[in-house]
Amino acid sequence: MVRGLGEALLKNPYFRPHMETVVSGIRSTGNLHLGNYYGAVQNFVKMQNEYNCYFFIADLHSLTTHPTPANLHANVKQVLVEYLAAGIDPEKATIYVQSDVPEVTELYLYLNMNAYMGELERATSFKDKVRANPDNVNAGLLTYPVLMAADIIIHKATKVPVGKDQEQHLEMARTFGNRFNRLYNHDYFPEPYAFSFGESLVKIPGLDGAGKMGKSEGEGNAIFLSDTPEAIRKKVMRAKTDSGPTEENQTKPQEIQNLFDLMKVVSTPDTLAHFDHLYNTCAIRYGDLKKQLAEDMIIATAPIREKINDIANDAPLLRQVARYGAAKARESASKTIREVREIIGFRKF
Ligand code: TYM
Repeated sequence: MVRGLGEALLKNPYFRPHMETVVSGIRSTGNLHLGNYYGAVQNFVKMQNEYNCYFFIADLHSLTTHPTPANLHANVKQVLVEYLAAGIDPEKATIYVQSDVPEVTELYLYLNMNAYMGELERATSFKDKVRANPDNVNAGLLTYPVLMAADIIIHKATKVPVGKDQEQHLEMARTFGNRFNRLYNHDYFPEPYAFSFGESLVKIPGLDGAGKMGKSEGEGNAIFLSDTPEAIRKKVMRAKTDSGPTEENQTKPQEIQNLFDLMKVVSTPDTLAHFDHLYNTCAIRYGDLKKQLAEDMIIATAPIREKINDIANDAPLLRQVARYGAAKARESASKTIREVREIIGFRKF
């Protein structure tokens, strides 16, 4: 399927010009976890059959935290490997590395001219980052949502599969695209919306009892797609719990609700109902719940985990996928940049 990629890929048989365009990306800041998978990648895999898809590795976005060259390269490779292992098919979707498409940074510059300090400072993700790292409040962090808007509208995407935490960024992407349209009195960029196949955007909780699952939320909070079964068991068994329900049908405290929410995504409805019943009748043993949860996580991640090593060792494959992906992405991005330059008024003499 993946092998034998060639010139044919540039004439992608899955490219359907009448179909909506989809764009999404993941920062190259470490291994993918269950939050990335259920919030984003699972939808990527489904969408590649129905839409014109562009899925990229957001390496430029990862520069806000100043990775070393070796770390940057290893992390970009890891996301690419895990995209493929999760089932994104380079013959159906365009997979590329963000920094291979310099047109994105050109559009970012144009959009920056119409992005205002006040609105950028008010972005929740910016405020969170400032709070977490007061010594590294760089301009790239402030204009992060502008680069993200450029990523999306460079391909004129309308659907963006992301988790709940990205909703505000999508709203900002619409603002920047619309502002460009108004400024130049040109109905050019369509509006992109966050997308999920379910009823609402997904937020996968972490194992530390508090917020969402994240790469930088501390040791043991995230289950990675590449984690061994032993590592998964260990992390889940250490997840925070309380001393158990004292009344029938009582509301679950956050850390317990989180475990049930995780179970909702990896276990069968019967399993979930079984443990819910035990909780509501005060008969639950958290050890049993965690054992089941860990085994179901192991089963859910096995098909991906089993492919990761083989793909990681196939350097020619990775090179080919990235090269052809970049060519496809640049084809679309350079068309937009040509038109945008014309609209702005950069004309040849
Ligand atoms: P990033 O790298 O933080 O996360 C990648 C994707 O995973 C989703 N996600 C989650 N979903 C549910 N529950 C969680 N606990 C969870 N953690 C992460 C994110 O919502 C996201 O969809 N700014 C983006 C990367 C980006 C991008 C873009 C995305 C750059 N340009 C253009 C879409 C379109 C980010 O930092 O995602």
